[in-house]
Amino acid sequence: MNTLLFGVLPYVLLVIGIAGAIYRYNSNRFTWSTQSSQFLENKTLFFGSFPWHYGIITVLLIHLFGFLIPAGLLAWNGSPIRLIILEVTGLAMGLLALFGLVALIYRRLTNVRAKAVTSQWDALLLLVLLIQVITGVLTAILYKWGSNWYAAAAAPYLWSIIALNPNVDLVANLPLLTKLHIINAMVIVALIPFTRLVHFFVINIYKYLSRPYQVVRWYSRDSRTENIVQYK
Ligand code: HEM
Repeated sequence: MNTLLFGVLPYVLLVIGIAGAIYRYNSNRFTWSTQSSQFLENKTLFFGSFPWHYGIITVLLIHLFGFLIPAGLLAWNGSPIRLIILEVTGLAMGLLALFGLVALIYRRLTNVRAKAVTSQWDALLLLVLLIQVITGVLTAILYKWGSNWYAAAAAPYLWSIIALNPNVDLVANLPLLTKLHIINAMVIVALIPFTRLVHFFVINIYKYLSRPYQVVRWYSRDSRTENIVQYK
């Protein structure tokens, strides 16, 4: 079972993701966006979007660091105080992302206008993202020093997938919750081209973090002058 889930499934999902990206690029590349719904509803979007993006981007940067330089992560964790700083930051950012995601889901479920533009793909995406964040946060809470065994076991496993020589033993004994976290991450990768996550590929990360989270301009007619005026 482990061989099927961790040795074969990752490639199936990867092929779906790559084939989907090629197909979408060739068929309708101008739809590579998040399809803003800010003009439909703004307030809850604000409370969801900011915490979600800042939380999840920080968590993913920590994941990326441990993936690219596992020895560096282990060296950082060599001092107990640094280990605790990293774990607490990761957990806090994970909880921030969870809060934001729940607000975004609440908005899609309760706001009639946002609901009207929510496709089945959007709903599926929100569900898998929720599973991902909940399993990650629970792993961090229930199993001690996850960042250490992420660097020692999970990162080498991911590298073995890339090297086309999957070492399933590295993850075979991880907790069930964490296994779900890993498989679900791969499902997310496969879903990218089919959902609004495709905006990953077209964002300018620096601008994305420093600009307002979305920019929608409203136009209206000035009642005195009859001129069209723009509001930000
Ligand atoms: C779509 C990709 C992913 C997302 C959105 C994601 C999200 C998260 C979140 C929100 C947390 C909790 C915050 C934290 O403590 O850092 C977390 C923790 C964790 N994730 Fe992921 N994750 C992803 C991919 C992966 C992958 C591919 C692996 C392993 C191969 C992994 C392994 C872990 C581990 C071991 C923890 C616990 C860290 C700790 O206890 O400090 N994650 N993840």
